Amino acid sequence: MIYRDPTTMLGRPQAKVGQGAVDKLRQETDADGPAIEALYDLCFSPQRHSLSSYQFRTGVHPIADLCQVAHDPSGALVGAIRYWPVTVGQQAALLLGPIAVHPDRQGTGVGRLLIGQTVPQAQSLGWARIMLVGDQPYYGRFGFAVLPGVVMPAPTDPARVLGFTRDTDAWSGVTGTVRKVTPGL
Ligand SMILES: CC(C)(COP(=O)(O)OP(=O)(O)OC[C@H]1O[C@@H](n2cnc3c(N)ncnc32)[C@H](O)[C@@H]1OP(=O)(O)O)[C@@H](O)C(=O)NCCC(=O)NCCS
Repeated sequence: MIYRDPTTMLGRPQAKVGQGAVDKLRQETDADGPAIEALYDLCFSPQRHSLSSYQFRTGVHPIADLCQVAHDPSGALVGAIRYWPVTVGQQAALLLGPIAVHPDRQGTGVGRLLIGQTVPQAQSLGWARIMLVGDQPYYGRFGFAVLPGVVMPAPTDPARVLGFTRDTDAWSGVTGTVRKVTPGL
């Protein structure tokens, strides 16, 4: 088994997560990939790929403009967010996630920065419907609410299927099963 020290596997090989303002994002690049995967493994688990939402991601390109990363002043990766296209019933939608913030920086506003910047950006790119699977007590503060008629594959708890509904009726009347878009599109 390979032991990976979470303080040295993020961002640049020797970069440790430190203090200092994290107040801007930039778009993910190919070079960020290994550090992002390590951050997701740290925040979720290496078994995260078995979660139901991953079936919508396999072989599908994320929306590059909306895949954003946050670094601390030392250059260490402290947060990442990605979005994937899906369909709900007959409608196009965006699936937000994964989003993760390094444990040493959780509760310092990095999640708010990641969500607060990318949701409006997604809307400005023309994505009317944004959804995710997560904790309503957290995402509710950003304008996400339970989508009663939208069905994620089992064993997803329906109370965790959320859509961005603040100041929009884009989810009104939209029901159905979440499905994968055609790979390669
Ligand atoms: C969930 C996560 C992305 C939030 O990012 P963050 O940078 O820690 O959050 P912020 O600093 O923007 O917000 C912190 C606030 O959210 C609250 N919060 C964090 N996670 C919460 C949750 N799951 N449910 C309810 N509230 C939550 C904190 O208590 C804090 O509240 P306060 O502002 O009243 O003090 C981050 O904690 C994380 O990566 N967790 C592990 C991975 C994960 O669960 N990802 C989401 C999967 S859906």
